[in-house]
Amino acid sequence: MSGEWWRSAVIYQVYVWSFADSDGDGIGDLPGVRSRLPYLRDLGVDAVWLNPFYPSPQADNGYDVADYRDVDPRFGTLDDVAGLIADAHDLGLRIILDLVPNHTSDQHPWFRAALAAPPGSRERARYLFRDGRGPDGAQPPNNWISMFGGRAWTRVGSQWYLHLFAPEQPDLDWTNDEVRAEFEDILRFWFDLGADGFRIDVAHGLAKDPQMPDLGEKQIATGPAPEGHPHWDLDEVHDVYRSWRRLSDSYPGERVFVGEVWVQSLDRLARYLRRDELHTAFNFTFLLARWSAKSLRTAVDDSIGHLLTVGAPATWVLSNHDVIRHVTRYGGGELGLRRARAAALLMLALPGGAYVYQGEELGLPEVTELPDELRRDPTFRRSQGADPGRDGCRVPLPWSGAVPSYGFGPGAAAWLPQPPEWAQLTVARQTGDPASMLELYRSALRHRRELPALGDGALHWLSTEDEVLAFRREPGFTCVLNVGDVPVPLPPEVDGARLLLASDPAADPGTLPAASAAWFAAGR
Ligand code: NOJ
Repeated sequence: MSGEWWRSAVIYQVYVWSFADSDGDGIGDLPGVRSRLPYLRDLGVDAVWLNPFYPSPQADNGYDVADYRDVDPRFGTLDDVAGLIADAHDLGLRIILDLVPNHTSDQHPWFRAALAAPPGSRERARYLFRDGRGPDGAQPPNNWISMFGGRAWTRVGSQWYLHLFAPEQPDLDWTNDEVRAEFEDILRFWFDLGADGFRIDVAHGLAKDPQMPDLGEKQIATGPAPEGHPHWDLDEVHDVYRSWRRLSDSYPGERVFVGEVWVQSLDRLARYLRRDELHTAFNFTFLLARWSAKSLRTAVDDSIGHLLTVGAPATWVLSNHDVIRHVTRYGGGELGLRRARAAALLMLALPGGAYVYQGEELGLPEVTELPDELRRDPTFRRSQGADPGRDGCRVPLPWSGAVPSYGFGPGAAAWLPQPPEWAQLTVARQTGDPASMLELYRSALRHRRELPALGDGALHWLSTEDEVLAFRREPGFTCVLNVGDVPVPLPPEVDGARLLLASDPAADPGTLPAASAAWFAAGR
């Protein structure tokens, strides 16, 4: 395991709820993940990021943590984590955990103690309790809104507490030294157990303007945080990451932090990646880019350019557990699949690191038809069903067989129903089929490991027609992408080059079909 591995790593995201269920309760678990690690090694990724598995009432599928140093019995035990880390390391895989520092669960002992204690107490000072407005304090302290809909304040007795997400997720007060000390201790706990790093939830949200001013009209919007916002992306957050970096650097073996940082400008993102702060961050600019050559190229250039100013590698991500799966975003059906295949080759050829969300390597689409009573995402409830929420990208994986749960667990149980079409998309079905999405990912990841041109480094654009992107990476690698809906001739630069991989292998020689990409190596 070499130094600065994270600069070019491909990190696979395991949504523990939905990856593999070992005990048949319909919910994924850590022994399930552990049993499938060889699959991830064979896929060719470098590391695995596990979504939260800590004890939790699961009001937001684990992003409401009640105990940061243990495992929810639904998912297993601490021994399972230790065993999983050991197995992963034996297979050459690193394990990244999910840290949720912005808020705890309302069932966390700290919050329970805060509710039992009076206003002004040390217990309440760990959270953001404030008096209400209006004659009897019946109005919330300000107009901040929850990311899941509705107001960001809940009243308890004479005070209100802040929750930027669900009411079951009270926000911590990061000006409180006890909070800072506690999280450093939590980091040490998992680093000591062998964790290779952390993905940091809502990394841009920890600091709040102490005046807590009302949001202006333009600030009342979800999505990437605009500058000058009173609770997103305040400068004070950086001090937290500087001290965490000192802590992670004190451990052997290049432990890393990956920030979930939703900010509007890449300049602001780059600030999180200064040399003494986080190692990398998700780059949502790429995920949000439209399917057009211009928009994709702008996302790539802006990302690389801005991150270079602080010496950080770019990262690329197309899907995760919070957004509509990209096969569907790109148009769904055959077209969405074609584009997703092409996007995979683009993403894996770009300089820097990449994230693969479980199931994208199978070409899974978003599941849009789910029974309301099974939806778990709080956004669904809090918007009275107006927003379907994120359950559609969290449906359990199909591994094998022709009937549900398609090998997800030992029986038929799966906490969300898998569509019948997924019988065609199982790992077993796709394995060995050269036309499958799975084999495309496997081949791409194998080339990526073998070719010195891929991973960290630079790219050079070739000049091409409007709906075509082509770039070269040294030594001797070229990626060409046709986002348009008609075939195009290949650029002259790849004359005589060897075709390594194509997202549409049925191409006529010399052309690149619509919505497809291909990789070439110099020489025959
Ligand atoms: C971002 C996580 O990815 C999402 O799933 C969660 O709901 C929020 N943060 C709140 O923790």
